[in-house]
Amino acid sequence: MKLLHIVGARPNFPKLAPVHRAARAIGLDQIIVHTGQHYDEAMSASFFRDLGIPEPDVNLEVGSGSHAAQTARIIERFEPVLLEHNPDWLVVYGDVNSTMATAIVAAKLGVRIAHVEAGLRSNDRGMPEEINRLVTDRLANLLLTPSVDAEATLLNEGEPASEIVFVGNVMIDTLFASLDRAAETNYAHRQGADGSHIVVTLHRPSNVDDPERLRTVCAELALLAEERQVFFPAHPRTQQQLKQLGIDLGRIQLGDPIAYFEMLDLVRHAHAVVTDSGGLQEETTALGIPCFTLRPNTERPITVVEGTNQLVHDLSTLAALVRGAQRADPPRRPAGWDGKAGERVAAALAARP
Ligand code: UD1
Repeated sequence: MKLLHIVGARPNFPKLAPVHRAARAIGLDQIIVHTGQHYDEAMSASFFRDLGIPEPDVNLEVGSGSHAAQTARIIERFEPVLLEHNPDWLVVYGDVNSTMATAIVAAKLGVRIAHVEAGLRSNDRGMPEEINRLVTDRLANLLLTPSVDAEATLLNEGEPASEIVFVGNVMIDTLFASLDRAAETNYAHRQGADGSHIVVTLHRPSNVDDPERLRTVCAELALLAEERQVFFPAHPRTQQQLKQLGIDLGRIQLGDPIAYFEMLDLVRHAHAVVTDSGGLQEETTALGIPCFTLRPNTERPITVVEGTNQLVHDLSTLAALVRGAQRADPPRRPAGWDGKAGERVAAALAARP
């Protein structure tokens, strides 16, 4: 059996790693296609190296652009690649433009699609990722869900039960497999972080493209930075926007995106995380670290119901909320967040030749 995996953007890489490893262990043939949606060293290549993912067989090198332009380039460049390799399954991950664009190509060519991380919904179509989730799940022939609530969502939308398999959270596989390597970096200690520090990541258009909102968030973070270290490894688009708007960051430590193991070490020892990322909502839950998500909704409600995640609706309360944060010790981990999700994905695919 031949699998063709699609990755394109940073959050895809830690999801591919455990699936690729498990599929190799049971002897499946595999091809990796990188769309090139992310291309910076820190956003892409460093993850392949750290996570031991083989070099992509094909890179479509689509780069950045508007949603339409990026999606269109992926569709056009991927079609001949899919025709050439003709896999038994196209395996797509998460909710980025590369996920949806390649699913459309496969659906039109009659290649079966497996979606890892199916069934997540924010119910907010203002988010580009929500459109990508809806389209991908509608087209997919195998819906591999990360949490039990995702299955109910898909059944409600009319997806057949025979196409849904609860596999658990593949990103948590990578998290658990990386804890020792993360500790070896000693990154938090090297940064002088003492455990009272905060880690911030923000990149969503809803936060970053709204100058007033971004100013308010930074003012709250600057308050916290008066009393403790606030690390803000920022996505390239966030850095551009902060510079362009000339926002005062006070003592906030703004920097470039950091590599996976270093980030994990910094988060693991943090007092709290402030973010709009999907992955960090899950990683903090698995580690028991308080997480404050600057969004009106989340496609990962299980991290709120069972985990350490809290949606922040009133931004002016952020500093106070963060100060009062308490770790979950021991962490409460949702079902299927056990480090074996990649094996269940590989088994589900192998069972459908
Ligand atoms: C994408 C995903 C988002 C995910 C995020 C993680 C979609 C719709 N969005 O958003 O779900 O959470 O990745 O990082 O697919 N850029 C660089 N270097 C890079 C990549 C991007 O400088 O390697 C800059 C460019 O200015 C680019 C901008 O970031 O225009 C946006 O990149 P894009 O891939 O379109 O979306 P993200 O915001 O990264």
